[in-house]
Amino acid sequence: MKKGVDPKFKDRLMSGSARLIYELLPIGSLCARLAAKIRVTRVEIQSSKVKTPIKLVQLTDLHYEPKAGISLQDIDAVVSLALAQNPDIFLLTGDYIIHKCRQSDEYAAALKPLAQAKPAFGIFGNHDGGRWASRCHGYPNLDVMSKVLADAGIHRLYNNNALTRLRDNSVRIVGLSDLWAGDFHPEAAFDTTHQHEEFTVLLSHNPDTLPYLMDYPWDLMLSGHTHGGQVVLPGIGAPWTPVKNMEHRRGFFNLGDRYLNVATGTGGLFQLRINCPPEITVFNIQPAGTV
Ligand SMILES: [Fe+2]
Repeated sequence: MKKGVDPKFKDRLMSGSARLIYELLPIGSLCARLAAKIRVTRVEIQSSKVKTPIKLVQLTDLHYEPKAGISLQDIDAVVSLALAQNPDIFLLTGDYIIHKCRQSDEYAAALKPLAQAKPAFGIFGNHDGGRWASRCHGYPNLDVMSKVLADAGIHRLYNNNALTRLRDNSVRIVGLSDLWAGDFHPEAAFDTTHQHEEFTVLLSHNPDTLPYLMDYPWDLMLSGHTHGGQVVLPGIGAPWTPVKNMEHRRGFFNLGDRYLNVATGTGGLFQLRINCPPEITVFNIQPAGTV
């Protein structure tokens, strides 16, 4: 996908004053209080493509990093909260780190309880590696974070899809690589042979990808990336939201015959959140006509 976003716009999160904040603020003390603030957002959906109810949990933008992100203790808390929802599947929509993953074995161990409990699928975000990350003190490729997911037992999706069985339902999970990473290929991710008979969940880190995906067969698209704007100021809005389409900054959207969810995620750059609490999202998918 070559249609792009202005590189200057994409780089601004890690430039100039943002780097200064990262270096100077007492981030650790802010992180310690994060776990208590995470809320569980619940969404009810009906679909004729499921025979029995299924429950999905979305986790996004964990942003583990000892200094500027959330701690392993906070990751433990997020994982515990997700496990407590007792879903049928965990879906992770990228940005597991901020810059580098210096304790990758410990991080994988912290995430592993998810996949030990239920199937878990994950895609990558712009912070996990690739073109954008290489310009912003991150990894030029996805080798490190691919190993973290593999060690954690999380099925990595990268411009491909997988069919999984959840209760009495076949559910297809389509996973895209990240737009800013420079390897966003929906034409490869969707299996042209499938007839969209299954409930299909599309994982795409950046909600700005929506216009490129409307011609493909899916039912529920899960995104993160925006952190909901992270800092939402009365009368001003969310000036640092890294998307072009501010309409999809945060929330659940009914698009007619399908749905989009843009979660605020649980981590965030510098852990500065104002009027934008961190969240995990629980989706209850019910057979049509039963609610
Ligand atoms: Fe993020």
